[in-house]
Amino acid sequence: MGEASRRWAELQSGRGIPPEILAHAPADPWTHDPRDFRAPEVPADTPSRDAGLELLGGGGTVLDVGCGGGDAAFALLGPMTRAVGTDQQADMLEVFAEVARERGVPCATVPGRWPDVASDAGTADVVVSHHVLHNVVDLAPFLTALTTAATRGVVVEMLPEHPMAWLDPLWVRFHDLHRPPSATADDAIAVLVELGVEPEVRHWQRARRHPHDPDWVTRRLCLPPERSGEVDAALAEVPLRRRDAVTLLWRT
Ligand SMILES: C[S@@+](CC[C@H](N)C(=O)[O-])C[C@H]1O[C@@H](n2cnc3c(N)ncnc32)[C@H](O)[C@@H]1O
Repeated sequence: MGEASRRWAELQSGRGIPPEILAHAPADPWTHDPRDFRAPEVPADTPSRDAGLELLGGGGTVLDVGCGGGDAAFALLGPMTRAVGTDQQADMLEVFAEVARERGVPCATVPGRWPDVASDAGTADVVVSHHVLHNVVDLAPFLTALTTAATRGVVVEMLPEHPMAWLDPLWVRFHDLHRPPSATADDAIAVLVELGVEPEVRHWQRARRHPHDPDWVTRRLCLPPERSGEVDAALAEVPLRRRDAVTLLWRT
């Protein structure tokens, strides 16, 4: 394993929830609600969408890795001739398939963990993977499989640091847990460079914020729902969640 891959794995592993806290969590703090990830009717006009459209040109197929409800793939409606979604959370794939049906796009879904399911997913002209890298510990095989699956190129979208890093002050407050620093988008780029890939990097600001109401944050913090009021009060004191995002594009 290269130096950058090792650094990424160490930073990511360091941000796991300690088992003694997890053991007392009343609900799974990790699982995403598919309703929060349904692709919008009108896609956001973002540098990631531009990058996907550049690669698609007049038309082509798209593989969305860690697809959720298909935000990344369905932003490419028009030139996209077929959408394949893969996700380790099966209920996300139901939403992905439903959106494809509603929007009249031929579609397939592949349940499971990337890169384990890469051979089932096959290849596509364009591979997109948005907001997944911060979930991954062993990044090099994940990225290599994205490259191998794409006949034209790959678009990755991510936040500059772990999407939950803004909650670090609340881990101190509620659990006296001081979390190590997050891996960053620059750390991910270093892994790509180690793999011989020099991505084009676009920095921008997101208009939309993902949900972070007190009930959602309470579950993330492994606290029982009755502490939601306390969490709400504490949230007023932490800096607002950052809106900056990074798009990485590489041709294959
Ligand atoms: C934050 S959501 C992003 C969903 C969607 N890409 C979007 O931008 O709206 C992350 C998704 O990646 C999935 N995921 C995380 N790690 C994965 C892996 N190794 N293989 C497949 N899916 C993964 C999760 O189940 C979740 O649906």
